[in-house]
Amino acid sequence: MERTFLMIKPDAIERGLIGEIVKRFERKGLQLTAAKLLQVSREQAERHYEEHAGKDFYEPLVEFVTSGPVFAMVWQGDRAIGLSRSLIGKTDALEAAPGTIRADFAVHTRLNLIHGSDSPESAEREIANFFTPEEMVNYTKSVQKWI
Ligand code: PPS
Repeated sequence: MERTFLMIKPDAIERGLIGEIVKRFERKGLQLTAAKLLQVSREQAERHYEEHAGKDFYEPLVEFVTSGPVFAMVWQGDRAIGLSRSLIGKTDALEAAPGTIRADFAVHTRLNLIHGSDSPESAEREIANFFTPEEMVNYTKSVQKWI
C-alpha cells in the first residue's frame, strides 16, 4: 500500500476543475485519506519545491503555486504514486498522453493543473509539509477488495 501527495494548483481551482480531477482518482480505485483547500505560504511552497531551488523555473513556480488557493490531498492504494502520475500526464501538456489530466485540460507547462509525488520518499516529505498525522482518516472501503 502506497501513499501519494496530490495538489490541485491555482489554475485548476480558478477554472472550476476540482471535481473533474478528483473524480479521475476516485474512479481509478485509489482511496482518499485527507484533503483540504488552503492558501500555500511562501515558506511552505519553497519547502515543497526545494529540490528545484536554483532552476530557472523555480521562482515562477513558487509564485504561481502561492498565487491562489490549492486543493491538497493524500491518496492511498497499491502503486498509488505511479498510477497517479499516469493519470496526471507529462509536465508539458504537449507531451502528455491523450486522456491524461494535463492532455485534456492544460496548455502550458507552468499552468499544468496538478502536482503528484514522484517517489515514496517525496510523498512522505510532501505529506508532512501539508498535513498533520491527525488529519489522516483511516477507513476501509469494502469495494477495495475488487480493485
Ligand atoms: S525536472 O527538472 O525534470 O525535475 O522538472 P519537472 O519534473 O519537469 O518539473 C518540476 C516541477 O516544475 C514545474 N515546471 C515549471 N514551472 C514553471 N515554469 C516552467 N517552465 C516549468 N517547468 C517545470 C513542473 O510543473 C513541476 O511541478 P510539479 O508541481 O511538481 O508538477
